[in-house]
Amino acid sequence: MNTYKLGVVGLGEGRSIMSAAISSTRWELVQVCDINPAVCELRAEEFGFDQWTTDYGELLSNPAIDVVAIYSPDQLHLPHMIQALQAGKHVICTKPMLTSLEGANELLELAGRSGKHVFVGQSSRFFEPMIRQRADFERGRHGSIQTVEAHYIADSRWFLNKPWSRQKGFSWMYNFMIHAVDLVRWYLPGALEVTGYGNVSGNSRQYGLETWDSMRLLIRDEEGRIGQISGSYTLPALGSEVEPGIGCVIRGTMGSSRAEYSNLLYHTRFEGEGRKTYSFENKRDYYFRFEGNSHHAGEYQNYIDYFAECLDNGAKPLPDAEEAVVTLALMAAMERTMQEGGKPVRVDELLRENGLAHLRSSYGTRP
Ligand SMILES: NC(=O)c1ccc[n+]([C@@H]2O[C@H](COP(=O)([O-])OP(=O)(O)OC[C@H]3O[C@@H](n4cnc5c(N)ncnc54)[C@H](O)[C@@H]3O)[C@@H](O)[C@H]2O)c1
Repeated sequence: MNTYKLGVVGLGEGRSIMSAAISSTRWELVQVCDINPAVCELRAEEFGFDQWTTDYGELLSNPAIDVVAIYSPDQLHLPHMIQALQAGKHVICTKPMLTSLEGANELLELAGRSGKHVFVGQSSRFFEPMIRQRADFERGRHGSIQTVEAHYIADSRWFLNKPWSRQKGFSWMYNFMIHAVDLVRWYLPGALEVTGYGNVSGNSRQYGLETWDSMRLLIRDEEGRIGQISGSYTLPALGSEVEPGIGCVIRGTMGSSRAEYSNLLYHTRFEGEGRKTYSFENKRDYYFRFEGNSHHAGEYQNYIDYFAECLDNGAKPLPDAEEAVVTLALMAAMERTMQEGGKPVRVDELLRENGLAHLRSSYGTRP
């Protein structure tokens, strides 16, 4: 078992991966970077860790770093990943890997040539109830899956205080709804076609935003299975006691299950059993280490430890850049159906138009 050496750029939510690396036995935190020295000083004090820089180039030229973890604003992920790969580092990039399919080809080519891994931190896959649901799915406990429904619904107007959320490249779909999109595609990797609607509420317009803030979409895969994805981000929410912020429901011929975030709950009804609810409340302090529930330290620790295991075994950590690009193609198809009043759009179409048709043959068979 090796110990891997981590550098981090972007210390807002990057705070969570600092905590994860410091707590993990598999990682050593070597250096961190934020363009804002006040944020660096804040984190230095919080973690007693003073190896910081405001110069990303300096972090990349640090020979002690094996892996660079990117938590900068969405619009900077592409240049930051390219620079890290060119510097010979493995990459962990938070979601969304990119804000559109622009640059996807260049990134895949560079990642392929570099021989380094690009792993995308889809944190929801690594939350306890979702981990348990996946294990039941892999054991075949749902029987033949018929539908997968995922939602991410939260009043996230607070997020619009971040300057980059009002700049080109930000959208509720790519930044927020991607959690629900990724969960559905994880179970229906061969998503073929999508239809749906989106709207912009007066609440978004008050912030000068013209990006869909409520979206409802239906997906069909190669075998006719149905996925449903819902998101609303600027409307008063019912609160997690009534409605978990993120939920993933799988319904199959032998059972149904629902995994919830940020409730640490997992509900099942499998054939031969009554309904069961599993609570992982005893892990609350592991998942939520700072104030409130608005960060992801536990999920990040789970995924960096998984990444370390993959490096040990020479395995490819998933989702990788290719899988993330297929999710982006699905989101581009979602955008198109919403623009075209619900006309069904095929994911293939978007892959082909962007010179990515070669991904089509592999993505349906990914685990
Ligand atoms: N569930 C999750 O995995 C999750 C949760 C929250 C945020 N995120 C992702 O993390 C990223 C950052 O979001 P956030 O909420 O922390 O935003 P934030 O604005 O709070 O933090 C971003 C940080 O990046 C720094 N920065 C900006 N430009 C930089 C540059 N050129 N070089 C170095 N540092 C730079 C800023 O100073 C800031 O401190 C986003 O991509 C977001 O989607 C993921």
